[in-house]
Amino acid sequence: MATSDPAGFETLSELEARAASRIPPRVWEYVQGGAGDEVTLRANRSAYDRWSLHPRALRDVSNVSLKTWVLGREVSAPFLIAPTAYQREVHPDGEPGVARAASEQGVLATFSTLSSAPLEEIAAASGTGARWFQLYLQPEFADTRALVERAERARFDAIVLTVDAPVLGVRDRQATAGFAIDSSVPAGNGPRATPPSRRPEGGPVDYRLRAPADANWEVVDRVRASTSLPVVVKGILAAEDARLAVAHGARAVVVSNHGGRQLDRAPATLAVLPEVAAEVGDRAEVYVDGGVRRGSDVLIALALGARAVGVGRPILWALGVGGAAGVRRYLELLATDVAVALALVGHTGSYRLDREVVRPAVPPGP
Ligand code: FNR
Ligand code: LAC
Repeated sequence: MATSDPAGFETLSELEARAASRIPPRVWEYVQGGAGDEVTLRANRSAYDRWSLHPRALRDVSNVSLKTWVLGREVSAPFLIAPTAYQREVHPDGEPGVARAASEQGVLATFSTLSSAPLEEIAAASGTGARWFQLYLQPEFADTRALVERAERARFDAIVLTVDAPVLGVRDRQATAGFAIDSSVPAGNGPRATPPSRRPEGGPVDYRLRAPADANWEVVDRVRASTSLPVVVKGILAAEDARLAVAHGARAVVVSNHGGRQLDRAPATLAVLPEVAAEVGDRAEVYVDGGVRRGSDVLIALALGARAVGVGRPILWALGVGGAAGVRRYLELLATDVAVALALVGHTGSYRLDREVVRPAVPPGP
């Protein structure tokens, strides 16, 4: 690798190891860790090994396009940036750097309630780029509503309500490394970082993850009633929950186990994607995240019913290695990886990819 290269890496394969040596150990454990014994964390990856891609030969693949549409908006690729908290812990460029890189690449980016920069600053960096705001319910609904209203004013395109964290998962690696989610990191959307004139009404806001654990599906209706933006429900692992989300007006669901960080031994997301996609049909869009690392992974997920896939940790790796330039490089490399895989399976577009391109992999051994 040339040391003058601002991104700091040239292939997808080298990225994780480079990030491990660049991101401070305390933060690295937070980023990498999963819940419990990390069975689900590993399963997210190994689930992809259960499928193979079936290429067709001698088709015209001279014009491959990754372009697709999410909630009616055109984006340059069928992958999006999943929300991850506290990005300035990883690199000073933080969320505004990620927003800039995503916007330049035409990639949709989601930003966490627990961002280390105020959502208004992230929106400014994103400019005309596609951006979604990930919502954590606040202890008081008035504070939840205030966040939603800020996101709408800052022209985010959708509200992504995360429903898999009524309490935080048990994360031993993170605890051992001394990364405390609720105290060690200044919250960008908290009152201290918000100019007083723009401070939401309703008193001091607690932006730590203290979701009201008694929330039920009606909260989706309440969030919808707070905004004209489409609402996406993130953290679905059951077909019946996908049905409920749609019944409560969600325009899309994200099949996600939070990157294996919440309930250990929850299923790999890819394992439940087909049943969720079958349940939802054309009534809403379905996305999936967890363990997506390569263009081939993206194709498998699309063929099994996802409109788009989310990528979490690799964005933090790229940010840690090269700041905004690293994220830009990563998005380019992933786009190339998807485009090459598409051409090699004999398809020219990722929108509504043919189910025929995937089949269960033949089990190894005699
Ligand atoms: C997350 N994730 C997450 N999700 C969410 O809805 N709000 C959040 O604030 C965060 N924060 C967060 C921090 C870190 C460090 C990680 C790794 C993940 C979950 C994230 O959106 C996504 O579901 C997973 O990261 C996807 O799995 P991969 O791509 O990391 O394997
Ligand atoms: C996490 C929370 C903050 O996964 O979503 O770390």
